[in-house]
Amino acid sequence: MGFKPANNIQDLQYFGEFGGVNPSISDSSTYTFLSAKTMFDTFEGNADGCYLYSRHSSPSNLYLGEALAAMEGTETANVAASGMGAITPVILQLCEAGDHIVSSRTIYGGTYAFLKNFTPRFDIKTSFVDITNLDVVEQAITSKTKILYCESVSNPLLEVADIKGLADIAKRHNLQLVVDNTFSPLSISPAKLGADIVIHSLTKFINGSSDTVGGVVCGTQEFIDQLRNVNDGASMLLGSTMDSLRSASVLKNLRTLHIRMQQHSLNAKYLAEKFEQDGLKTVYPGLASHPSHELFKSMMNDKYGFGGMLTIDVGSLDTANALMEMMQEKNLGYLAVSLGFYKTLFSAPGSSTSSEIPEDEQKDMGLSDGLIRFSIGLDADIERTYNMMRACMVELNILEPKESFTTV
Ligand SMILES: Cc1ncc(COP(=O)(O)O)c(C=O)c1O
Repeated sequence: MGFKPANNIQDLQYFGEFGGVNPSISDSSTYTFLSAKTMFDTFEGNADGCYLYSRHSSPSNLYLGEALAAMEGTETANVAASGMGAITPVILQLCEAGDHIVSSRTIYGGTYAFLKNFTPRFDIKTSFVDITNLDVVEQAITSKTKILYCESVSNPLLEVADIKGLADIAKRHNLQLVVDNTFSPLSISPAKLGADIVIHSLTKFINGSSDTVGGVVCGTQEFIDQLRNVNDGASMLLGSTMDSLRSASVLKNLRTLHIRMQQHSLNAKYLAEKFEQDGLKTVYPGLASHPSHELFKSMMNDKYGFGGMLTIDVGSLDTANALMEMMQEKNLGYLAVSLGFYKTLFSAPGSSTSSEIPEDEQKDMGLSDGLIRFSIGLDADIERTYNMMRACMVELNILEPKESFTTV
């Protein structure tokens, strides 16, 4: 029996304070105690069900965390004010001065910048490797390594991590395997494949309406308690707390994630196949030509497809920019970073979300100037979208007009 993440979300049942079908929003930063002793116990972490202060935890954040833990199949979870607000405390909680991280070199630019430029200030160093080559990953491990870090489907190159293979390496070397699953919610369940900690930027598919930033760390009760510890917990002390009003709205959006992911995946697969047939260099994990197509298939849960992200290469940054501007003019989507919206979003990662990565390293990892990253929307008529996108490409001489058949 496969893992069924959407069933786990469906099965949650919360009642609001007055019998409402949604849990009541806890609109408070602080909480009263009936006895001083309970306050003391709560600070010590020994009063289950009591709330202390909303930077530590709040009922609304716990509801959302519980739902996301159910989705990922972990013991529990801690929500944060942004994806980076989830990623950075995990790294700082697990590492101290002198420690080392082995990370995929194709990760979100902000995470890359944090590991490359920020953590060295605390004498935490990172080796960036080709995560698809398990030998290279293992060779990079030193006696100081604490974390193996990757994205299940990487931003922006859509490389797929062999999570089982990486989990084996992590176990052998006593490392924590931390997986950012932002690009493949529901499709891939990293904890079920052996990851120790699963992170999401909720900003993307999970919230799905591009109206807020948010993040989550899913893991064991022990690790989440460490993050929240009032004395040395990185989440508690760095203070990247999600507001209760927001966590309530993200929880409501989470309930339609399964339907949205199915439509994102359906549309992205349709376009990827068409673009590839047109002769465009297209990368999509659902294409048989993707080097990790079989690997993705071996890891994926039933029903949610290969995700909503694809890339095409149109040869140069100028052409990419012209195409994106034209597609926006024709109302096909927005020239914008981020992902997981009802409209298609497109950007050229080399000059935007991955601009933190130096040019020579971009080249090295195959991040070319003409690359356009698409987050495909929920379009009801994807064939119409394709025809309109194709017309833009013809107008810009990226594609030839389709041959018209003449009868003799
Ligand atoms: C894969 C991935 N992880 C993490 C983040 C950071 O999330 P946030 O912007 O919510 O801080 C992003 C943002 O683009 C991302 O694409």
